[in-house]
Amino acid sequence: MKSKATFLGTIEDVNGASVRILLSNESLSGLVYVDGQGYRIGQIGTFIKIPIGFTLLYGIISQVGASSVPENRIDQQPYGNRWMTVQLVGEGSANGNFQRGISQYPTIGDEAHLVSERDLTKIYGKVTDVNYIKIGNIASSESIPALLDIDKLITRHSTIVGSTGSGKSNTVTALLKAINSNNYPKAKIILIDPHSEYHTALEDFSKVYSLDGVNKLKIPYWCLSYNELALILFDKKQSIDSPQDLRIQQEILKQKITISQDLKSGSIPENQITVNSPIPFDLKQIWYDLYIETFATVNTKGDFDTIAYKRDGQGVELKGNKETLELPEFIPPGTGGSSPFIFTTNKLLSSYLNKLRGKLLDNRVDFIFDPEDFDGVTKDLDDLLNEWVNHDKPITILDLGGVPFDTMDLAVGLISRLTFETMFWGRFRVKLIFMGTTKKALII
Ligand SMILES: Nc1ncnc2c1ncn2[C@@H]1O[C@H](COP(=O)(O)OP(=O)(O)OP(=O)(O)O)[C@@H](O)[C@H]1O
Ligand SMILES: [Mg+2]
Repeated sequence: MKSKATFLGTIEDVNGASVRILLSNESLSGLVYVDGQGYRIGQIGTFIKIPIGFTLLYGIISQVGASSVPENRIDQQPYGNRWMTVQLVGEGSANGNFQRGISQYPTIGDEAHLVSERDLTKIYGKVTDVNYIKIGNIASSESIPALLDIDKLITRHSTIVGSTGSGKSNTVTALLKAINSNNYPKAKIILIDPHSEYHTALEDFSKVYSLDGVNKLKIPYWCLSYNELALILFDKKQSIDSPQDLRIQQEILKQKITISQDLKSGSIPENQITVNSPIPFDLKQIWYDLYIETFATVNTKGDFDTIAYKRDGQGVELKGNKETLELPEFIPPGTGGSSPFIFTTNKLLSSYLNKLRGKLLDNRVDFIFDPEDFDGVTKDLDDLLNEWVNHDKPITILDLGGVPFDTMDLAVGLISRLTFETMFWGRFRVKLIFMGTTKKALII
């Protein structure tokens, strides 16, 4: 086989899947012609093959180098000792298909050969293969299409990695366009876009939900678990509940039980409801009630009904406003045992109430804390998913541009969970492909 034009050199070192090849004098020019096609030898990232009996091992060049030789060997190696390191990646039979993984290893003296375009089509597959989508061409061999097995892609998790500017976002776009321009007219894809970068590229294929666009992105806070909610609201990082947490949980549960009989999707038995059930409740109401409970002064000792509100110039009580989060104002307590009296001396909740009001006022997180008509009675979670998935475009972009950094992970997690759980529990009713991106990775 040594006489073949594809011969590159012989194996001189094998270290696991890493193989070192000593280049032969014949492959010195750096350029070899096979079937009229020119190939550059030793290009990082290109394939080589090592025939072992009826099997061909395939490897990718990861390093090339040269070193000098002793003077008495200059005749045999006039251009020095030239070598390359190759990582073995898969194998195939002379006529069969390529498979990832290595079941046998080469040994010293085995031959290494150049991989021609004909071999490469075995590795990369053919356009005619069913279930393959074409996302472009192989950079090192432009005549070969870059194909992906769509079945494998969507039934496993995949990640696209690369250094900054290497083309990850572009690959995601090409991938999504390819899925849609092939035979998958019913494919539904949800793309979580943390940096608002996909609108333009996928304009014709997508409907966009964003914080400030035509279609508003809403992820109701009431489908968060208590710990997730408390992480955003109170920066709660530990799982142990403080007395403040327990008090707030008590109010949440009370409200969930009350509303559970009026839900659009049917009533839920009380004994199945926990503080973490995705049932609506009114955070503003909780803030308002607990604020009054904590700070009110009362005209009759221990009586929460006779709150001593301050009055404005017209004599109207300054009761504050739950919706606008305007604070109620109370007459300061009297001195020497005279009314009004402080309703409670327990001010444990003060800091929690302050933080809660701050978050409810922060319009960057309105998409979570202002769910509008997603109140469980007018619209429930199935309506939300229905809006996301049921439209005439194949892709739904959930644009998280503008979401504060500390809420981003949670928003992505919540969307993923909501989508996955809906897909799981409704798997006999709806079929959708789930896809999400983070800064540097695409998870499918
Ligand atoms: N296949 C390609 N051919 C030519 N140019 C490309 C290709 N893919 C990407 N580019 C160009 O490279 C640049 C960076 O691409 P892209 O934004 O996709 O990279 P990225 O890996 O997502 O970067 P970042 O890490 O910053 O998000 C863009 O200008 C893009 O047009
Ligand atoms: Mg990018």
